[in-house]
Amino acid sequence: MAGRIPENLLEDILSRIDIVEVISGYLPLKRAGRNFKACCPFHHEKTASFMVSPDRQIYHCFGCGESGNAFKFLMRYERMEFPEAVETLASKAGVILPRASPQDSQAANLIAQIYRANEAAALFYANNLSHAAGHEARNYLVKRGLTEDSIRTFRLGLALEKWDGLINHLRQSAMSLGVIEKAGLILPRDGGGFYDRFRNRIIFPISDIRSRVLGFGARVLDNALPKYMNSPETPIYTKGNNLYGLYLSRDHIRDTDLCVVVEGYLDFMIPYQHGLKNIVASQGTALTAEQIRLLKRYTHNVVMVYDGDAAGELATLRSLDLFIEEEMHVRVAGLPAGFDPDTFVRQFGIRKFKDTVDNAKDLFDYKLAILKSRHDPASVQGKARICQDMLETLGKFKNAVLKSEYIKKLAQEVDVREESLLSEIKKVKAVRPYQELKEPAGKKAAAINPTEKLLIRLMLQESGLIGRIREHLEPADFQDERMTRIASVLFDLDSQGRAVEPRFLVNHITDEDFSELVCESAVMQEDFSAGHKEKVVADCIQRLKSERLKIKKQKLAEEIRRAQHLGDEPRLKELMEEFHYLLRKKG
Ligand code: UTP
Ligand code: MN
Repeated sequence: MAGRIPENLLEDILSRIDIVEVISGYLPLKRAGRNFKACCPFHHEKTASFMVSPDRQIYHCFGCGESGNAFKFLMRYERMEFPEAVETLASKAGVILPRASPQDSQAANLIAQIYRANEAAALFYANNLSHAAGHEARNYLVKRGLTEDSIRTFRLGLALEKWDGLINHLRQSAMSLGVIEKAGLILPRDGGGFYDRFRNRIIFPISDIRSRVLGFGARVLDNALPKYMNSPETPIYTKGNNLYGLYLSRDHIRDTDLCVVVEGYLDFMIPYQHGLKNIVASQGTALTAEQIRLLKRYTHNVVMVYDGDAAGELATLRSLDLFIEEEMHVRVAGLPAGFDPDTFVRQFGIRKFKDTVDNAKDLFDYKLAILKSRHDPASVQGKARICQDMLETLGKFKNAVLKSEYIKKLAQEVDVREESLLSEIKKVKAVRPYQELKEPAGKKAAAINPTEKLLIRLMLQESGLIGRIREHLEPADFQDERMTRIASVLFDLDSQGRAVEPRFLVNHITDEDFSELVCESAVMQEDFSAGHKEKVVADCIQRLKSERLKIKKQKLAEEIRRAQHLGDEPRLKELMEEFHYLLRKKG
């Protein structure tokens, strides 16, 4: 859809909203000269280097480089996809978006209806708790240590012991049964008709970070099996794609720069209720890559607190490698056998739980301890096995310094020579050439020529300069490939008589380096007086031209040498003529 929203509509939306107002909804912005500033929400910092420009309608962080317009901010901060960010701001701006294709609008419509069905169901289930029929369920929740407040906060509910409780309720609304079925709330009956999926269970709505209900978890009130049932896969719910409670805890996670990860619904709720609010639940055992990426938005530091049983241990180990691949820093806290976070907090109190989190072990020590308990570190075979398993994990570190530090440590811990480990880890890598290839070789590009950068910056700050510069230079006159691309975009827009505004440009930029430069230029104002600016531009053009000429001459000289070597007389003559022509041109 992104590509199909007409550009002028995007510009219309951006012109009607104020980025300062949008961002103020999330961060406290303080005046700083012509800009506003705040501590950057995208990286951890103590002094504010995140700037928002009301003139340019752009944000830029001088610390981490994150930058963009209002759409991009919502995409980053709220994790919205582009179309979603556009829709959000369009409705704020009162701009009506066209629906691209009938299929598209049908799909979007179905999704909207599923959200609505889920919301209606969540309200219905919550309401059941306050009826007489909810008496036993209320007692159950109290027995599990949940307060009235928590029951409301977590939107807990009850599915009655009936086959048609929800159906009958929703029938009164205008909702179609087809949609309710697609939401996974009801199932078709053999003889026709439908019945409620969740019956006689406590209901835990699962919400996304925008607090929209994606699906449900449902627990029996006794020891019957299955203990938990979840919504099936629906167009909006995929098991393993969300983190339970993140919509409540994300600001706390961001503020503390740490997230405690537990397994179960109650393991989330009980610590949260007792004040440990930087927490989420994975709702199962092993964390998925999707869940880890979701978390990574808010922090890079994770403490996993899993049950003190063997299944928990294995699940933890599996997640560890995923965390390392995502370059997160993970520690692991073990609980005494037989306890999970819920029962631990209720038995020993939140202080003790916090201590456990604070004392969580580095994943290296954790995995090593487990391996040492499984294989005899005194025997040769045991040592080999431990090293092999540890190297599997250590091989996943992208940071070479970290990796080599851990290898050094492993060598000491198991008493083997570091060189042997280094040669072993090469073998581990050799098995997985693909993962190694994924790392771009030299991602840090060469430094950009300051003259080129200054020219681009001046054009971005004052679009009136573009025409003048275009008279003298071609995009190819910029040696840096990125600068060439920006220049050609700017020249094209200018030649079409279109507005060149950084906030609009950003919509079409997928390249982060490019977007960073555009936004940085927009937020910074070069302090040139008007007359001086003209002079700076003229100087830059002159300098670029002469640099360009110098390179041309060098290339030509090179070709001349080659032609001489080959004895290619006609070619040599041609080249010499060109060379003399260049020499006459002022360099
Ligand atoms: P546990 O079996 O550890 O249950 O499952 P629990 O959370 O301690 O449950 P309580 O304390 O008896 O109520 C951990 C989590 O795994 C998911 C649920 O999210 C659960 O909270 N789970 C478990 C399921 O989705 N289905 C199941 O059948 C079991
Ligand atoms: Mn439990």
